[in-house]
Amino acid sequence: MKISFEKKAVGKADAVVVFAAEGGRLTGAAQKLDQKSKGALKRAMKADAFTGGKGKLLMVSGPAGVAWTHIVVAGLGKPADLEARDFEAIGSSLTPLLNRHKVASVQVLLDDETCDAPKDVAAAHLAQGLLLNSYRFDKYLTREPKEKKPTLKSATVVLSGAAAAKKDFETRRKVAEAVFWARDLVSEAPNVLYPESYAEMIRCELGPLGVEVKILGRKETQKLGMGALIAVGQGSAREEKLVTMHWKGGDKNRENVAFVGKGVTFDTGGISLKPGPGMWDMKYDMGGSAAVVGAMKALASRKAKANVVGVVALAENMPSGTACRPGDIVTSMSGQTVEILNTDAEGRLILCDALWYCQETFRPTHIIDLATLTGAVVIALGHEYAAVYSNDDKLPQHLIGAGKEVGEPLWHMPLNDAWDKAMDSAAADIKNISSGRDAGSATAAHFLKRFIRKGVTWAHLDIAGMAWTEKDRPCVPKGAVGFGVRLLDRYVAEYCEE
Ligand code: BES
Ligand code: ZN
Ligand code: ZN
Repeated sequence: MKISFEKKAVGKADAVVVFAAEGGRLTGAAQKLDQKSKGALKRAMKADAFTGGKGKLLMVSGPAGVAWTHIVVAGLGKPADLEARDFEAIGSSLTPLLNRHKVASVQVLLDDETCDAPKDVAAAHLAQGLLLNSYRFDKYLTREPKEKKPTLKSATVVLSGAAAAKKDFETRRKVAEAVFWARDLVSEAPNVLYPESYAEMIRCELGPLGVEVKILGRKETQKLGMGALIAVGQGSAREEKLVTMHWKGGDKNRENVAFVGKGVTFDTGGISLKPGPGMWDMKYDMGGSAAVVGAMKALASRKAKANVVGVVALAENMPSGTACRPGDIVTSMSGQTVEILNTDAEGRLILCDALWYCQETFRPTHIIDLATLTGAVVIALGHEYAAVYSNDDKLPQHLIGAGKEVGEPLWHMPLNDAWDKAMDSAAADIKNISSGRDAGSATAAHFLKRFIRKGVTWAHLDIAGMAWTEKDRPCVPKGAVGFGVRLLDRYVAEYCEE
């Protein structure tokens, strides 16, 4: 999508977007258009009972007296209540409407009356929303008829502060591209994206951006004693990989913050096999790792002034003659022995070694892990929030704040000694499932907590309900969300950069 910012509406476009506040009050640019089109806007507003409500759109097709084939009136609600970031949702809602009407190019007239918030920031947000909602994973649709393909190719936002908006949008575009990459990875078929191929994709994408990428295979994981990660990988013909990424954008003496992601490229459940219906969903069981690698791409491409480590554990959880069994006891890299009672609770197994390795190697002060870890979190929070668990009070607040700004909501969940105790095993130091089904996402968090070293500030995000969406959402078309990329990028921008 070509996106530009101009001071004046020059050149031709198929469609134009103008704004109306609550009560149907048109902005200056909209009024002019209404006059030119001989009252087409006011007539259409009346006919459709459109009163400028926030988030509402009115399409006027084929108006007389103007060069555009379509005029869209976008509702603002009360302009005084509008924040710049509200324009993201407006931009996002424009994309499908314009595509439905076969529009290829659009001009958005954001005049000074549109809102009280800074117009340049609003314009950049609008463009970002429009762009984010244009994502499609269509590489395998070889027979899709032309009329089903999206038509929108270019958007120009017209405002007096065009130069400032353009500058602001430069970073937003980089972040959006990182989100698109994460969505591509999550959408990719599991026969194409598996630990080895995924690791190579990470190397090819991030290496050239200046991120130090290292890939560890079985030889190294064995030497390091990653018995928990290996237990998950050993049932598959595809070897597990641990990938580390280091972005050194900050001062040499500045501490590292680390992101750790679950990258199960397909989760059959292993010997504790999942039921067949819906199992295909488990291709997105690498959504946590996609958030991490996507965030690394965003940070490196916008040259964030921070030192950030990414670690992703990649494995395919398969049942086979070499797979681990319920009852197996393995030794994790930390030295703690783990009794595997359910091979479907594999995420925590690969994460415990990734977390330990990350802390031993990079000594981060803060560590944030993301994982599609439990079905239980979907029961608790549905598809509206990811859960955040933490051994700290401030970190979850910072993450929740960052999430709010980018439309990736988190809910702070409690830890409790009783849930820690529920993970005690009679035969080993810890077991990978508790005996009942109570508080399943919290007991999983407590499993991970036992692999956090003293003094390290840690947060765990269970994103099982958020990595994939069955319905269109603002800035997110149905499918892979890329959840976490924007949140982590925002978190670094606000709390880790110099
Ligand atoms: N990958 C699943 C969790 C999941 C469920 C992710 C739904 C996305 C959507 C995870 O590995 C798993 O199977 N967890 C088990 C844990 C149980 C055996 C304690 C679960 O939630 O059922
Ligand atoms: Zn599982
Ligand atoms: Zn899983």
